[in-house]
This record gives sequence, C-alpha cells and structure tokens, in this order.
Amino acid sequence: MCGIVGYTGNHQAAPILLDGLSRLEYRGYDSAGLAVRNGEALAEVVKATGKLYHLADKTDQGRSLIGTCGIGHTRWATHGDPSVTNAHPHVSGNCSGSGSGSVESDVVGVHNGIIENFAELKEKLLRHGYRFYSDTDTEVAVKLVDYYYKKYRIGPIDALTRTMVRVRGSYALALMFKDYPGEIFVARKDSPLIIGTAEDAAYLASDVPAILKYTRHVYYIDNLQAARIAPGSVKFYDLNGDEVSLPLTEITWDAAAAEKGGYEHFMLKEIHEQPTAVRDTLNSLLKDGQIDLSAAGLTDETIRSLTQIDIVACGSAWHVGMAAQYVLEDLVKIPVRVELASEFRYRSIPMAENTLVIVISQSGETADSLAALRVAKERGALTLAVVNVVGSTIAREADHVLYTLAGPEIAVATTKAYSAQLIAMDALAVQMAFARGAISPEQYGHFQEELSLIPDKIRRVLEDKERLQWFSSKIVNSHDIFFIGRGLDYAISLEGSLKMKEISYIHSEAYAAGELKHGTISLIENNTLVIGVLTQSQLFEKTVSNMVECRSRGAYLMGITTNGNFAVEDSVNFTVYVPRTDEHFISSLAVIPLQLLAYYTSVNRGLDVDKPRNLAKSVTVE
Ligand code: M6R
Repeated sequence: MCGIVGYTGNHQAAPILLDGLSRLEYRGYDSAGLAVRNGEALAEVVKATGKLYHLADKTDQGRSLIGTCGIGHTRWATHGDPSVTNAHPHVSGNCSGSGSGSVESDVVGVHNGIIENFAELKEKLLRHGYRFYSDTDTEVAVKLVDYYYKKYRIGPIDALTRTMVRVRGSYALALMFKDYPGEIFVARKDSPLIIGTAEDAAYLASDVPAILKYTRHVYYIDNLQAARIAPGSVKFYDLNGDEVSLPLTEITWDAAAAEKGGYEHFMLKEIHEQPTAVRDTLNSLLKDGQIDLSAAGLTDETIRSLTQIDIVACGSAWHVGMAAQYVLEDLVKIPVRVELASEFRYRSIPMAENTLVIVISQSGETADSLAALRVAKERGALTLAVVNVVGSTIAREADHVLYTLAGPEIAVATTKAYSAQLIAMDALAVQMAFARGAISPEQYGHFQEELSLIPDKIRRVLEDKERLQWFSSKIVNSHDIFFIGRGLDYAISLEGSLKMKEISYIHSEAYAAGELKHGTISLIENNTLVIGVLTQSQLFEKTVSNMVECRSRGAYLMGITTNGNFAVEDSVNFTVYVPRTDEHFISSLAVIPLQLLAYYTSVNRGLDVDKPRNLAKSVTVE
C-alpha cells in the first residue's frame, strides 16, 4: 500500500523518482505525485490520479520538474477518495487549491500508513489557524510538524520527534523543509521504509526494488526513529532526538530478480521461479543431511518443550498455515490452531504455557500480522516469524525468524512466496516431529527425501501448462466457481479460490467438501464450475461423491489428483494430474495448476494480472 521514494544528489530528481515509483506500482495505488525542489526555490508539487503514466505525462517524463532533491508517492486511498487533491505530497501552507504547483509552504511531505487520531489533531490545528484542503490524515501530519517547527523554533528532527510522540497509528513520513534545501527528513513507525546511500546521493523508498538500480547499500530504519538525509550522508535519531547508529546492509539479490525477464507478467515469471524458490528455501534449512533450525534459533530442547502451536497470518499466508496445520497435527501430534491475524489480535484466546506462535508473512509488514505478533508476545508466547523480506518489521520483532528464500515477489497475487512458505512449514513439521520422537529415523529420512524431490516435481507440473491455458479459455465467462476438498485438499482449495477471485474477478468460494450439503449446494446451477482437489487417498472417494452430487445438479467438474488415479475421469469433465509425493507435501504440487488456471483466466479476460484492482501487495494498514 502507498509507495514512497525520495532522492537527493547531483542528478535531476524527478526521473529518478518516477522510475522508483514505477517499481513500487505492485504495492497498489490509485493516484501519484511528486515534489521536487531546486536549491533554495520552493518545492514544485505535481499530482495525478490513475496510473503513473498520467503523472509522467503531466511532467514530461519528469523533465519539466527541475531540481535535484525530491520526494514521490503512490497513494492507496484510506482517508478521502482517490483525487488530485487527496493525492500526496501534501503541504503545510494554507493554500486554497489542491496543494499542487509552486505552493508557498514550509513543509511538504508524503506518508504511508494511517494516523489514527487525525481528527483530534485536525481540530487542534484548526484552532491554531491552519486550513485544510484535503480529506487526508497526511495533510494533518504535515501541518502538525509545521506547527511544532514554528511554535518551538526547533529544527526538523525535533519537530518530527514531537510529532511522533503526539500521533497514534503507523507512518513512514518523508518531508522537505523550505529552510533546508537538499535535505529530506523521515520518520517511521510500523510502515516500511529503507534508506539507501551512494557516494554523492541518498535515497529512500518503501521497498528495495525502487532504488536497487542506484545503490545496494541500505539502512533499515527502526520503529520510532527519524533520519536526516543529504547527498552522501544519512543520520539517524531516536525519539529523544539523540543520534543513533544503524548497521549498513548490502543487498545481495540481483536487480534482474525484480524485472520481468522476458515474461509477459511478473506473476507468470514468479510461477516459474517456484522450483528455485522452493529449492533455495529447503537448502537453507538443510545441513549435513539433516534439517537444521539453528539459524532460526529453534533448538530441539525448545521444540520438545512446546505444548501448543498457534499459526497466525493473513490471506495466502493464512492458507499456508491451514495446510501446515494438517501436517503438524499428523506428524508432530501437537495441538495446532490457525487464526486469521485480524481476528487473533482482538480475541482473548487463553495462551497455554509453552505455546509457539508462528506468524507467516511474505512482506513481514502486514499490519494485522504484526499486531498479532505483538499480542502473542504480550501474552507470553514464544514467537517464530516465517518471513520472506529480510529486515522487515515482523522479522525484527519475532523471537525467532525462519527466512523463506523466494526473492522479491512483485505480483500482488503471491505464488513463489506461498510455495516457499509451504516448504518451510513442511520442513519445520518434519524436524519438530523428529526432535519430539514422533517419527522414526527411517521416516525422517523418507520425509527429507520426498521434500528434496518437490522442486523437480513442480517443474514437471509447469511443463503441462498449455492444458490449463486451454481449459481457462473454456471457463473464462464463468460467474461463480466453487473449489472443494477435504483435509489438506481443503487448504489447497482455499488458495486456489483466492488466486482465482483476486486476479480474474470471478466470484469463487472454497468449501470443505463435506460442508456443501449444509447450504452451498443450493447455488449449483447448470454449468457452474466445481473444482475438486483429490490428493488425499483416504478422502478421495468422499470428495468424488460430493462432486458427483454437484454434477447431478448441473455442475461442470474439474478434478486435480495425483498420477495414477485415472478412475476419476469417469466422474469429472476435466482432470489435471500432478506427480505423486508423500501426501503430507502434496500442496506444493496441487496448488500449481490452480495458480496457472487463475493466471490464464485473468489474461483471457484482459485484466491487469499483476496489479488487480483495489488490492495492494503489502497491506500495511488495518
Ligand atoms: O505479506 P503477507 O504474506 O503478510 O501478505 C498476506 C496477504 O495480504 C497476501 O497473502 C494476499 O492474500 C495475497 N494477495 C494473496 O495472493
């Protein structure tokens, strides 16, 4: 959600800012804007609604905005509708228009996050003579900084830290002050922000891909810290305004990892990167032929002490938790509860002693997952984060971190990060089972062998993609699609359904197959597509029966099963086979055809596959 970029150096800022914003488009946005200043001159603000090219057109690809210091923003509307007036940057001056042009203003800024007490702060500022042109909480934040700056005649950092103490909510704020040409000031709490340095320049961004073309040296600014950025110099401050030092990190992944690399869409590229993402993640957890969780700090002794596992996450990461639940219960024989982070955070679930709370998140910044992690810690649980983005807030705040090595994921619909999370959770389950004596050394060896074969088997499923492309052209006009399965197959159905609806905009639902008769079957009409996941031998016949019940009410059936289950063709209209593996780990294979089906359906409907409407890659607000 919302993307922020900033640059100060010797080059013209606007083209760099536009380029950075284009690499943050995946985060989701509905308007965009730039503020650029040239030396002592006032900042020039330009904003546009819709896609980034409108802003690029308005500024002649950035060429009409002269200046070597600037900030840029893509906005995902929270307070106020998507309009030029509400788009960022916002200014402290009492201007009457939309806050754009060469506005007489002491402070101009961009923001990602939500200021929860903005109404109360706005009242206060109105009493002090401030006037507002937009409906945003950001304009309030910028004006509050201006208020402290002038009232106490203090420097930008002190004005920022006073503001940080006063506001509630989340923010990554980047501000330029009229009196400080060539400098950008930032503050952060619970919203992502990184700062990059180079010899004669400095950058800031919501995510690494925005600045990777220019520098590989970044700082991960901490919560409740501020920074002062000038060409070639970055200084950090705590809430007291005292200078603090932060470690400089070198980004090791290749810039090409965040490019399309010849694929039509990021999603298709990321689907094809799954064998590598899964292999890399698995290899990072193997040492001397054993699964080794020491990098995550989980000793066998800790694992043996656990009495309960709670998994909390959102969206697809929650589906990984649902799948992992079946595997953990069956292998580790430990009670497992899976909760949506947005629910968990507001429930008073009694926390058993020695509970491990696992938070799964690709971005490591999802607001609800972060809040759930904090609640779990407050309640005394041990916490483990399964996270893809290195240095993200969830990774930093959890007691232990297990990194997935999927690399940067750009498409809003997750694929390779989901698969990397699945394999990480499967490996975790196998190691936990072994450490607790729930499986024999022979079984341990067998499970490891099966896990190591998964990447190649995913590759084989991908080779069969043309059939799914063809099938997608048949179902492209569907109104409703139902995904059904039992046990692990239900968890896979959940993910298949979410993939389909989020990028094709076709209504879809996932049901535990046994639940159909309790209401949903009344929705089945002639030609309603029902997709059954049939990988669990014990549950196979039961789900087939449920599918046949749908067929007798007019449904058109697709089945996903493992090689050799050819009898299914007697019952369904279209079958997809995936290679056999130990049934605990089948999600990694069965999900691939569902990802491909969703992808091709979105393409066939002419939709924006990588950036579906209303969605953001990283949901950093509640
Ligand atoms: O970054 P996270 O893994 O915490 O994100 C969680 C969900 O927002 C995410 O999985 C979302 O559901 C995806 N768009 C699904 O494709």
